[in-house]
Amino acid sequence: MSLPGCYPLHDAIIAEKLTKYYGDFLAVDHISFQVRKSEIYGFLGPNGAGKTTTVRMLCGLTRISEGKAYIYGYDINRELVAIKKLIGVVQDISNLYMELSCYDNLMFCAEMYGVPRHQRKERVMDLLRFFGLEDKKHVKFKELSKGLKRRLAIAAALVHKPKLLFLDEPTIGLDVKSKRQIWNLICKLNEKGITIFLTTHNIYEAFRLCDRIAIINRGKIIAEGTPTELRKKVSGNKIIELQVSPPIKKSTILDNVDGIIDVNIGRDNTIYITINDAIAALEGILEIVKKLSLEIVMLNLRGADAEDVFIRLIDGTEKNIGSSTRR
Ligand SMILES: Nc1ncnc2c1ncn2[C@@H]1O[C@H](COP(=O)(O)OP(=O)(O)OP(=O)(O)O)[C@@H](O)[C@H]1O
Ligand SMILES: [Mg+2]
Repeated sequence: MSLPGCYPLHDAIIAEKLTKYYGDFLAVDHISFQVRKSEIYGFLGPNGAGKTTTVRMLCGLTRISEGKAYIYGYDINRELVAIKKLIGVVQDISNLYMELSCYDNLMFCAEMYGVPRHQRKERVMDLLRFFGLEDKKHVKFKELSKGLKRRLAIAAALVHKPKLLFLDEPTIGLDVKSKRQIWNLICKLNEKGITIFLTTHNIYEAFRLCDRIAIINRGKIIAEGTPTELRKKVSGNKIIELQVSPPIKKSTILDNVDGIIDVNIGRDNTIYITINDAIAALEGILEIVKKLSLEIVMLNLRGADAEDVFIRLIDGTEKNIGSSTRR
C-alpha cells in the first residue's frame, strides 16, 4: 500500500516489475530497480533493448502494462500531475520549435511549465549562461549545430527546476567534442543535486558518468552495479593478450593454465585470456611456451575494459535465452 508522496522517501525512482507490451510483444519484461537521490543512474543496452520504452513509462508518456513505479514516492499510475513537476525529460527527438530563437524557445517552455511570469526571464538567462548559449540567444533553433541543439533541449527540460532529469541517449550522433561538453554539463547538473537517469548504448559514456549502471538487454535487466562491481562481475579483473608462434589452440591454455576464467581467440590469432589470478596464469602460460618451444610475439596484461564487460554480459544472457523467440 502507498500513501501519496510517502513511499519510500529515500529513492528518486522505484520500479517494481515494470512491464510493457506492445500488442503481444514484450518490450520491457518485469524489471525492478531503484534510483537513489542525487545519483547518475545509467541504463545501458543495445538497440531495441527497451531503454526508451522504460523512460517513457517512467515519465508517464506511455502506459505501464504491468508493475508499478514511483517517482519520489508518487505513484505513476495515480499521481502523474505531481510527478510532472519533479521531472524533466530529454528524448532523442527534440520538441523545440525550429523557427524560434533559443531565448524564445526557453521562454515558451517556461510558460508551458507554469514558471511565474516575473521569474521567467531570469530563469531563462541563467540557463542560457549555464549551457554556454548566451551568445546564441537570438539564433533560431534550426540554425544551431547538432551539439548546441542538444544543449538547448537539455536546458528546456530544466526550466521548471526538476529534481530528476531523464536523458534518453543525450550524446547520440554527436562528435567527440560536443559529446564531452554534454558529459561535463551532465556532471555539473548532478553536482547541483539533480538526479540523472541516463540511457545510452555507449559503454564508455555509462562507465565514465554513472554512479550505478543497469545493463538491459531484450527487455530484461541482466546486471546492475557500480562500474567497478560490473567489471569484477564478469572478469575477475584482468585480461592477458597473447600472440605466439606457431599459434596454439584454446584448449592448450584452458587445460594447462590455472587462474583462468575464459579464453577467446581473435581473428589475428591473438588469444584473450580472462583471468582472476595473474601470477598463476602468467606462470602457466610461460610453462606452455617453454614446453612447446613457442615464440612470444606479444604478451600484454590489461584491466577488463567497459566493452569486455558489456559484451560478456550480453553474450552470457543470449546463450541462456537460446533460440526461443518468446522472452
Ligand atoms: N510503439 C511501439 N510499437 C511496437 N513496438 C515498439 C514500439 N516502440 C518500441 N517498440 C519495440 O520495443 C522494443 C524496445 O524498443 P525501445 O525503443 O524501448 O528500445 P531502445 O533500447 O530505446 O532502443 P534504441 O537504442 O534503438 O533507442 C524494440 O523491439 C522496439 O522495436
Ligand atoms: Mg531508444
